[in-house]
Amino acid sequence: MMHDLSAIQTSFQEATAGIVSLQTLESVRIAYLGRKGALAAVFDALKNLPPDERREAGEKANALRREIEQALAEKKSVLERTEHESILKKEWLDVTRPGVKPLRGHLHPLTKITRDIVAIFSSMGFAVAEGPEAETEHYNFDALNIPADHPARDMWDTFWLQSSQKEITNHKLQIPNKSQKSNPKSRKLLLRTHTSPVQIRYMETHQPPIRIIVPGRVYRYEATDASHDVQFMQVEGLMADTNVSVANFKAVIQMFLSRLFHTQIEIRLRPSYFPFTEPSFEVDISCTYCRQKGCSICKQSGWLELMGAGMVHPRVFKAAGWNPKNIAGFAFGVGIDRLALMKYKIPDIRLFRSGDLRFLKQF
Ligand code: PHE
Repeated sequence: MMHDLSAIQTSFQEATAGIVSLQTLESVRIAYLGRKGALAAVFDALKNLPPDERREAGEKANALRREIEQALAEKKSVLERTEHESILKKEWLDVTRPGVKPLRGHLHPLTKITRDIVAIFSSMGFAVAEGPEAETEHYNFDALNIPADHPARDMWDTFWLQSSQKEITNHKLQIPNKSQKSNPKSRKLLLRTHTSPVQIRYMETHQPPIRIIVPGRVYRYEATDASHDVQFMQVEGLMADTNVSVANFKAVIQMFLSRLFHTQIEIRLRPSYFPFTEPSFEVDISCTYCRQKGCSICKQSGWLELMGAGMVHPRVFKAAGWNPKNIAGFAFGVGIDRLALMKYKIPDIRLFRSGDLRFLKQF
């Protein structure tokens, strides 16, 4: 019996010494500890021994079983660890490696500058108003003191839209002015040529004092070149109260431009003509490219033409249903594209809507 136990012990030690896989370890366990294993045979044989021998042999056999169980458990944990390590080696991942950068979009330069413009005017107490791009002839022209037969219409080359009366009612572009209702021409739709119609729309629903800007798209039916496009953006300004003067306009616009360009900007007013302002003027600004030293962009004059402006014509107040008595206001309209060309020093206005990523990625 004793002889058997030490033989089992030696053969177990030999069997486990070279094991490298958990699978072989399991078959060794079955061979020694299993129901039909080497130790089971020993325990079976115990029954046939006389009682005093049986007890001693039993203790020894149990000791060997514990020894084998412990050796197997230790071996198992060693094998498990190495197996784990080899998986880690195979499926190695360096989390500190730089990844693939996803492409990120960003705001269009015209959106950016529009937001800047809105922020500057908001800080001066101007509200933002908007109006439709498909506009009626009434708001785009008539109410702004530009009657159909007036040569001033030629100042705006217009995209006319084919429209029926039904469409206009559906679009809720009603015309409140009674006299205009009898003139079916005024209901004709067009792509607005400027943001000025929103002056009328806003005054119809508000009372003085008002201070608004109107950013938005406008359309002109004309040939394109580096400084003209069929579609562009404008921002309209309108301030009306009992005592608004040209001096207020100059102060507001100079503050606006200096903040937009982050530098002191000089302006000068030249007499001009718009049917909806009286007096009217063109606003020139000190050349942002050469700082008035003289360059090809300002044609050596030191000045750049920027926008139209003037004091709101009494007929415009009247057309919006306001009493022009004791009310004065200034209005201006400036091309947002043009401001962006100057601010970012872009050579061609058509780049804004070209969809050219080489251009857009620079902002
Ligand atoms: N609406 C004019 C234009 O587009 C600009 C303007 C606006 C002029 C307001 C005077 C007052 O040319």
